[in-house]
Amino acid sequence: MTGIFISMEGPDGSGKTTQIELLKKYLNDKGYEIIITREPGGTVISEAVREIILNKEYTNMGYMTEALLYASARAQLVSEVIKPALEAGKAVISDRFVDSSAVYQGMARGLGVDTVYEINKFAIQKIMPDVTIHLDLPAKVGIGRKKEQAELDRMELETIEFHEQVAEGYRKLAALNPDRIYTIDATLPIDIIHNKIKNKIEELIG
Ligand code: TYD
Repeated sequence: MTGIFISMEGPDGSGKTTQIELLKKYLNDKGYEIIITREPGGTVISEAVREIILNKEYTNMGYMTEALLYASARAQLVSEVIKPALEAGKAVISDRFVDSSAVYQGMARGLGVDTVYEINKFAIQKIMPDVTIHLDLPAKVGIGRKKEQAELDRMELETIEFHEQVAEGYRKLAALNPDRIYTIDATLPIDIIHNKIKNKIEELIG
């Protein structure tokens, strides 16, 4: 596999989308062909699964069902988009990947990180990001930003305690994977965050 795979992670409202757009421009200037994708979603089937997962009427969705649905959307995205792109030498930037499941379902929902990775083994076909950018943000700030932007979905409507567990979960996961996960304070100005990301990617691609 010759391409590069970058995932962007963090609590809701941490500014991933803005940073992905800036990173895309930078990698384009470097001559990479870029594929941008998001989870859950990124293919017609995965976007349909996203509609089910985030539908706020489905208040009784079981945690295991939720974890399996995220994994099923991911399975389709990996085989249809991510794997072929990496094999063709492209740069893939994904707005969330399997770490989101480790944190949201494994830690905040309490299913356990090992269980969640076990389920996802089928979905990811051994593909893991070369580098993961973790935008670290207090839960209250992130959810506050989301409320200003749009109607909240089923996950965003969770309690503040849940979102605090998510924010803390990411910090734990980053501490466990210091070689892959690079944490940045997401309360910093946009251009400063972008520069930090650029420097990190520069280390990777030289
Ligand atoms: P996202 O698309 O980042 O939300 P938005 O576009 O509204 O910013 O993610 C959707 C939600 O799904 C978000 O609350 C995080 C959650 N999620 C999980 O719980 N597990 C997962 O594996 C993924 C990919 C996302």
